[in-house]
Amino acid sequence: MESQIEKVIEVKNVKKIYRMGSEKIFAVDDVSFDILKGEFCCLLGTSGSGKSTLLNLMAGIEKLSSGQIIIKGKRVHKMSENSLARFRQRYLGFVFQSYNLMGSMTALENVEFPLVFKRIRSKKRKKMARDMLIKVGLGSRLTHKPKEMSGGQQQRVGIARAFVAKPEIVFADEPTGNLDTKTTMEVMNLIKSIAKDNKQTIVMVTHDRRLADFADRIIHILDGKIQSIEVNEHPMDGSTKEEKGEEVHSMESEVSDEDMKEENLPEPKEESEEIAGVTVENTSQPEGEIAVTNV
Ligand SMILES: Nc1ncnc2c1ncn2[C@@H]1O[C@H](COP(=O)(O)OP(=O)(O)OP(=O)(O)O)[C@@H](O)[C@H]1O
Ligand SMILES: [Mg+2]
Repeated sequence: MESQIEKVIEVKNVKKIYRMGSEKIFAVDDVSFDILKGEFCCLLGTSGSGKSTLLNLMAGIEKLSSGQIIIKGKRVHKMSENSLARFRQRYLGFVFQSYNLMGSMTALENVEFPLVFKRIRSKKRKKMARDMLIKVGLGSRLTHKPKEMSGGQQQRVGIARAFVAKPEIVFADEPTGNLDTKTTMEVMNLIKSIAKDNKQTIVMVTHDRRLADFADRIIHILDGKIQSIEVNEHPMDGSTKEEKGEEVHSMESEVSDEDMKEENLPEPKEESEEIAGVTVENTSQPEGEIAVTNV
């Protein structure tokens, strides 16, 4: 299992210090660990322990105070805003607790959204978004807007959006935070099985031990420090479509690795594009924080 030993994320002596007047808050305090390709890794800790800060540093959303974050051999903390934006679009996906869906867009348009930045043609985008929504069980809700869906359905749209472009790494911050226990388990199974089918790496933040049990490795965080790293010998399993004997609806047929190659992706342009009457400015921000006008 050669791929299992490849380090995809390296966190080296990372610190994040917030200054509040004369007080210094060591939100992340000299943390080092690696995440392997295809691994499902969980950052587990109580409220205020520094999990989200650490995840945001890893995703390049926040700037670190010192240390290094290396993803796929690239030092993300050294990248310019533009390079970082392109790197995120190409390799990273995000699932947020609060869904971060665009209220004026349908489920289909929300999932299509990240593909705009990959310059994938409209027809192909729509097919990819539709296929992904079917995969998360929302084939009958394509034209619903977020407020016309339940919390669990909105979170599944969020998952479809995070996974639609088949990012190598998905960061998830309390992805089931607002959901009941049954829906939480469904959403976790979904994340795990999609990631497994596509051999994606997941970094998930939670305070809930039951969710951490889905992970291969659990990094316990306390007061901004790693308390311990636990290898989960028997992670809870999202059974994959292959295991269930279902047809594997891989996105590979829709978006080939060739399509996603760096050299095949055009430079971001200044131009904007319109989806559902919403003008999408070309982004220099992560998905979910995309600059939008006319909403
Ligand atoms: N922008 C900020 N300015 C100052 N302090 C901050 C800022 N963001 C976070 N903190 C502090 O850093 C610490 C870590 O916050 P963080 O959001 O990472 O915690 P968390 O583990 O994700 O908690 P929760 O489970 O409640 O989401 C907290 O003590 C918080 O008050
Ligand atoms: Mg948090």
